[in-house]
Amino acid sequence: MKYAIVGTGARHAMFRDAIVSTHQGTAELVGLCDINGHRLALSAQDVPERGGNGIATYRAEHFGQMIDEQKPDTVIVTVPDDLHHEYIVAAMRAGCNVMTEKPMTTDLARLKAILDAQRETGRKVAVTFNYRYSPARTQIKDMLVSGVIGEVVAVDFSWHLDRVHGADYFRRWHRYKDRSGGLLVHKSTHHFDLVNWWLASVPESVSARGRRAFYTPQTADAMGLQGRSERCHTCPVFERCELRMDLKQDEKLRELYLDAEEFDGYHRDQCVFADDITIEDTMQVQVNYRSGAMLNYTLCAYSPWEGLEIRFHGTKGELVHKHVEVHGVFGGKREKPVDDAMTTTLHVAGQGPESIKVWTGMGGHGGADPIMLGYLFDPEGMSPDLYARSSSHLDGAWSILTGVAANRSIESGETTHIARMLAESGISL
Ligand SMILES: NC(=O)c1ccc[n+]([C@@H]2O[C@H](COP(=O)([O-])OP(=O)(O)OC[C@H]3O[C@@H](n4cnc5c(N)ncnc54)[C@H](O)[C@@H]3O)[C@@H](O)[C@H]2O)c1
Repeated sequence: MKYAIVGTGARHAMFRDAIVSTHQGTAELVGLCDINGHRLALSAQDVPERGGNGIATYRAEHFGQMIDEQKPDTVIVTVPDDLHHEYIVAAMRAGCNVMTEKPMTTDLARLKAILDAQRETGRKVAVTFNYRYSPARTQIKDMLVSGVIGEVVAVDFSWHLDRVHGADYFRRWHRYKDRSGGLLVHKSTHHFDLVNWWLASVPESVSARGRRAFYTPQTADAMGLQGRSERCHTCPVFERCELRMDLKQDEKLRELYLDAEEFDGYHRDQCVFADDITIEDTMQVQVNYRSGAMLNYTLCAYSPWEGLEIRFHGTKGELVHKHVEVHGVFGGKREKPVDDAMTTTLHVAGQGPESIKVWTGMGGHGGADPIMLGYLFDPEGMSPDLYARSSSHLDGAWSILTGVAANRSIESGETTHIARMLAESGISL
C-alpha cells in the first residue's frame, strides 16, 4: 500500500517512521506535503532513499499534484485540527482512503463536509485513536464485555494534565477554539471515544460548564511575571517563569519550530498566560448515553500530576482504574511515580475488592502506538482484533459530538440534545 503524509510537524514522524522502518514490507511512503518548506525538508531527510531517489515533497498548494503524480492509496492527515477536513475531503474526492489524527474535525460544518464526501465517494476514513490500543484500556474493555460488573449504569471519569503537558495546549494553535475546538474536542475526543467504545454506546444529551482559571494574565501577575512578552524566546522574565519553553535548548524543538518560523511565522512558544486565549482549562461535563448510562467527566489542564481516574458503577459491582503517569512538577520538571503507577480494582458486590494485574506494553502512549501501527499498516500480520479497536469516520464523529455539544452547553447554559443539534446542521449518522 502506498501512503502520503500531509502535515510534517511533531506528530507525523510516528507514522512516517512506522512506514519506512517497521512496516516497510507492507507499506511504502510516496510523498510528504506541508505548508512549511523547512519542516518538509527536515522530514524528508529521515526517509531512506529508494532507487537512489529521495522522497517526493510538495508544498501545500500542490497537494493535488502529489496525489496525481504519486498515486497514494491512503493519505495520512497530521495538520492542525481545523484543517483536517480540507485534506480528508480532498483526498477522498481524489480517490484515496484517509487516516487522520484525532480529532477527526472540530465543528459541525466541517463534520458535515467530511460525512458528505465519505458518503459520495465510499472511501474509508480511519481515525487513529491510539488510546484504545493501550493494553490497560483494552483490558478494561475486556472486563466490561465479560459482564463482570453487570450493566454499566454510571461512570466517573477525570483526566489530569499537568503543568508541562497541560501548558502546551496554551502555546500555539490549540489555544484558539476555532482552531482546535477547545480541549473538550481536541483532547477529550480521546476520552469520549474511549467511553463510547467501552460502553458500546453513543451520547444523547450533554450538559457542561467550563472556564479558564489558571492560564490567565492574573495568574502570571500573581507569580510576579510582570513585563512578560508574547513568547518565551524573547521574554524578559523567562528565567523566572516555571512554565517557560526553551526552544533553543531542545534540539528537536529548535529544528522543527524555531529554525522554521521565518517561513510561516508559527511561534511554538507563545505565552501561556496571554489574554487572547479562547479555550477553557477546567471543564466538567455530564453525558447521558443511548444505553441508559450516565457519565460525569472532569478535565483539568493544570493539575500537579498527570493521568486518569475512572470508576464504572455496574449492577453487579464496580471497576476502578487509576493511572498516574507523572507527578511532582517543579519548575517545569517532571518525575515518574515510584509506586504502582497503574492500578485496576474490581469490586464485585458481596465480595472484597480485588486488585487486578494490569495489562502493559512497550512503546509510545503506554504501549498503544506500536499495536495501533501494526493494525494500521500490517493488518494481515496481526491477530484478529477481538476488541474492535479500529475507528471509522462514524467513531470519529461520535467522539467529537460530546465535546461539540459540551461547548454549546457552556455557551448557552442549557443541555444540548445531540439529535436536535445534528438535525439543525443537516447531519445524519
Ligand atoms: N493521538 C495523539 O496522541 C496525538 C498527539 C499529538 C498530536 N496529535 C494530532 O496530530 C495533529 C498534528 O499535531 P502536531 O503536534 O504535529 O502539530 P504541528 O503544529 O507540530 O504540525 C502541524 C504541521 O502541519 C503543517 N501545516 C499547517 N497548515 C498546513 C496546511 N494548510 N497544509 C499543509 N500543512 C500544514 C505545519 O506546517 C506543521 O508542520 C493534530 O491534529 C493533533 O491533534 C495527536
